[in-house]
Amino acid sequence: MTVSGDFLAHKTLIGLIGGSDKHRAVITESLMPYYRIYTFADSEKGLDWLRTDRPVLVILDEDTKPLGGLSTLEALIRLPAARRPQILALGAKAESPFLEMAVKRGVGATLVKPFKHSHLLRAVSALINRVVETRWKTVSPLVAAPLLRVTEMFETLADLVGLPAALPTAEALAAGRELAEVARQGLLPELLDALDGHDNYLLSHSIRVAGHLARFGQTVGLKDDSLVALSVAGLLHDIGKMEIPFTILNKPGELTPDDRQVMNSHVARSLNLMARTPDLPPAILAITATHHERLDGSGYPRGLKGEALNKLSRLVGVVDVYCALTERRPYRPPLGSEAALDRMGAMNAALDPGLVATFRGLVLDGLGRRVAA
Ligand SMILES: [Fe+2]
Ligand SMILES: [Fe+2]
Repeated sequence: MTVSGDFLAHKTLIGLIGGSDKHRAVITESLMPYYRIYTFADSEKGLDWLRTDRPVLVILDEDTKPLGGLSTLEALIRLPAARRPQILALGAKAESPFLEMAVKRGVGATLVKPFKHSHLLRAVSALINRVVETRWKTVSPLVAAPLLRVTEMFETLADLVGLPAALPTAEALAAGRELAEVARQGLLPELLDALDGHDNYLLSHSIRVAGHLARFGQTVGLKDDSLVALSVAGLLHDIGKMEIPFTILNKPGELTPDDRQVMNSHVARSLNLMARTPDLPPAILAITATHHERLDGSGYPRGLKGEALNKLSRLVGVVDVYCALTERRPYRPPLGSEAALDRMGAMNAALDPGLVATFRGLVLDGLGRRVAA
């Protein structure tokens, strides 16, 4: 058995059973920047491991010993529901008895070897998200509504990347209103918990920013129109990242200056998408345009300073930085709430110190110290 990857405690746990040494090594290399992966050449040892650990997903190669792929698959399917992971079955041929049985028994997903790295990542991510999204059936309807609405909205948008599409204004406004209501009813902790473990970084980040902004906006006395604009902007501010290649967006190492330039272009890309979207309140564009600007002029894209940044821009700056610091990324573990707030407090004049202090109180007292979400 081998264990790979850094930041072990913060990564989603995946098991890989079977396949050649080389195949396991290739899969491990693909997945280890993003997940914690345990690999087993021996299917009995892999099944044994499931007695003690609870991976979200097991990737099973039909080429496994001493139990063959079919028997191992049967054993996985027979596990009690509470202990049964999602299964990704890997076979040499689509018409093999192994993959046919996998499809017939409704296992999570199948891939025929050889497959592209991107197909593997997509399949793994979709299965992890299926687990998280299934949990949404058990949360309050008020919390589930915007989660489902925004997920559907993002799936539609992902299909439109590269096309001259407009954003779904009515859906975004409806979700913004729903999130403002979630915040008003004190349900933000439940919303953040429900997102825990979701593997779509952009979706999860956008909903978290929107939820925190709605709550923060209420706390500082903003009224309905501004609140909805804030939470819709939270949902859409990074939408241009859909056009940024996965390899840059989720790069495990440090970005090169060229990568950084591409990454920073997400602000202009978000604004381009908004420019071809009718009926979007202007405040949403303004918040999006300034969410990476900093009071001391150190931000981008324009290096705006001080008074050039209004209250909404200052609020989004605080929340966006907090959410980014407390999120798990391939290149670093998430910071806890207090550590993130401490870091923000030390950002000198980049963020509005009064707003950072208010937000600190809101997160630590209002949401409870356990919230790193
Ligand atoms: Fe951004
Ligand atoms: Fe952001």
